[in-house]
Amino acid sequence: MTATVIDGKAFAARVREKVGGHVARLKQEHGITPGLAVVLVGEDPASQVYVRSKGKMTVEVGMSSYEHKLDVDTAEADLLALIDTLNNDPAVHGILVQLPLPKHMNEDLVINAIDPAKDVDGFHISNVGLLGTGQKSMVPCTPLGCLMMLRDHHGSLSGMDAVVIGRSNIVGKPMAQLLLGESCTVTIAHSRTKDLADVVRRADIVVAAVGRPEMVPGDWIKEGATVIDVGINRIDAPEKGEGKTRLVGDCHYDSCAEKAGAITPVPGGVGPMTIACLLANTVTACSRAN
Ligand code: GUN
Repeated sequence: MTATVIDGKAFAARVREKVGGHVARLKQEHGITPGLAVVLVGEDPASQVYVRSKGKMTVEVGMSSYEHKLDVDTAEADLLALIDTLNNDPAVHGILVQLPLPKHMNEDLVINAIDPAKDVDGFHISNVGLLGTGQKSMVPCTPLGCLMMLRDHHGSLSGMDAVVIGRSNIVGKPMAQLLLGESCTVTIAHSRTKDLADVVRRADIVVAAVGRPEMVPGDWIKEGATVIDVGINRIDAPEKGEGKTRLVGDCHYDSCAEKAGAITPVPGGVGPMTIACLLANTVTACSRAN
């Protein structure tokens, strides 16, 4: 079987278009412009790229973008004071604090200082609890993007066997909750899983979110399964010339594409959907607030 390629880039463009329409209506009918504040502490190059891209797309859909760049040795108390200001700013409907934070900061404390209604990442403990109990919440952007692609491809996911590889708070755990909400039978696999190949071979849906380049080979994939690759890993690519690199996922694309029924590419799969969902969450936060 040769897999259908799930085009996350095109899907994300459609989501952004929809968000843009929603933003225009909020402006026209209520005189409100949704606003997203992004806070970056330090100068991690990958984080800088993400933040720039988020800001650009926020403006493109007609929303206001507020970027706050803080020095790497900013005191935690100063970051908390900024979050308090943003919580109380009526022009700000969504707040995102880019992770990871510098080592001297307590990430849980910082995230839980964000007003849960403005927590467009869905990382606040209240939103985590709401999602875990099937209540209306802010849903983390990457798993939400994965779910949208799965639903678009399959329609109902009810009764399917899903494996999520990776147990992070950002992707693995919320992804598992979302799939459970769709009535999948969900396995969460991780670095201590005894026979990962065997677990993956039983799955109709494989979501790989471990951050290890090409760790899932095609011969683990059940014929016709759907593979959602969350990994974005930069590896050396000497075949492209000296010092060159390329991006790969957590799945070995060519061999997985031979077995899968559908697969997301890297780049151009999950990545673009994450930002589109962030914009969608910001509009949702704004609508709920007004
Ligand atoms: N760092 C990597 N992914 C994310 C994300 O989805 N949200 C935030 N805030 N930081 C991240």
